[in-house]
Amino acid sequence: MTLAELALFGGPKTINKEFLRYNPIGEEEVAAVTAVVRGGVLSKFLGTWDADFFGGEKVQAFERAWSSYFKVKHAVTVNSNTSGLIAAIGAIGIEPGDEVIVSPWTMSASATAILVWNAVPVFADIEERTFNLDPVSIEKNITPRTRAIMVTDIFGHAAELDSIMAIARKHKLKVIEDCAQAPAARYRGRFAGTVADIGVFSLNYHKHIHTGEGGVCVTNDDRLAERLQLIRNHAESVVEGKGVTDLSNMIGFNFRMTEIEAAIGIEQLKKLSRLTDERARLAQRLNGHLQGLAGLRVPVVEADCTHVYYVYPLIYDDRETGVPREQIVKALRAEGLAISDRYVMLHRLPMYRQKIAHGSKGFPWSADFYKGEVSYAEGICPLAEDLQDRRFMALAMCMHDYSDADIDLLGEAFRKVWSQMARLEQLKSAG
Ligand SMILES: Cc1ncc(COP(=O)(O)O)c(C=O)c1O
Repeated sequence: MTLAELALFGGPKTINKEFLRYNPIGEEEVAAVTAVVRGGVLSKFLGTWDADFFGGEKVQAFERAWSSYFKVKHAVTVNSNTSGLIAAIGAIGIEPGDEVIVSPWTMSASATAILVWNAVPVFADIEERTFNLDPVSIEKNITPRTRAIMVTDIFGHAAELDSIMAIARKHKLKVIEDCAQAPAARYRGRFAGTVADIGVFSLNYHKHIHTGEGGVCVTNDDRLAERLQLIRNHAESVVEGKGVTDLSNMIGFNFRMTEIEAAIGIEQLKKLSRLTDERARLAQRLNGHLQGLAGLRVPVVEADCTHVYYVYPLIYDDRETGVPREQIVKALRAEGLAISDRYVMLHRLPMYRQKIAHGSKGFPWSADFYKGEVSYAEGICPLAEDLQDRRFMALAMCMHDYSDADIDLLGEAFRKVWSQMARLEQLKSAG
């Protein structure tokens, strides 16, 4: 059988269809929203010490449902994961000039939440099994100023949380888990997001379940829950009435979720297990197509963990094929595959490279209260940098409602490109 020419060289494209948009919203959400809108109470929060300080009926019902699903004592809804991370950093009592260790391989908000409180993000490297913070690198980056670790469960798989919590206990650090991409992922008998002192979920439009924008913080600590609620809702004007005497970081925001979003959230939560199980099933099917392709490593799922595949991450080793990633990605894209070859690399952002955040004079890094000297130079996270520059590839799994046949088509595009690797290699030698 003669092989079809690669689309890159003018042959027929493997994927000629638009995949359905991923859409977890259905009639249940429509009915729930309609009921709230008809009732006219679109939000019930009051930023004073009052029964309405905790928000309306739907917000509170959603929080009860979330804490019961995730088996955690407190759930505090917010208007985004970003807001939740900011509230979490404030709640743990960060002081200006403290250092917080964070991954460079995460969405920017995981690190900016630290800067908001005039603390300093310190990027530790990641490990390449799950792309999460490497406990060894965390420990290397601990200084006398380190107060906390912000760990992200990237792509839908939890970080090495037991090791990270052990390091935190040893050095008396708090841990915040950015669980935006990993709702319902399991980590050794618990849910990701519930292992750290505070976990923060995202309900933005791109996630497994969503409320348009939104987020939820979870904690088993009564005091942290109270501080999260205060920072969410104008803390400074509530502390007196509530009798709160610790004024540290009691700068309040309006991070409140509306009744409409909470009503949607209640319905979305009922679908979470089904939706994440389906992502995992599709990923398994894709693994079946990709396993064994030279130089390609399919996603790793650690023992006693589950992966919810917000992203389906791959590692490609060009030493096994002789063809650089760039060429493979071009060939896959020509076949109609929406593959990405980048994630984020936070220490390469201009804000960190130039240390310009609050104002224009290098604050907080240049402030008297900061006694350290953090570096954001190239080379501080060698593994993450190497993955970004040479080896990483990914498919977004919450972007389309793939059928089994769609997944088979994705697999076919990979297999076609791999079957003609020699052709791509020749191209490289031809220059
Ligand atoms: C890892 C991670 N952290 C934080 C966020 C911010 O979430 P939100 O858009 O809900 O503020 C995201 C969103 O994509 C994310 O993926």
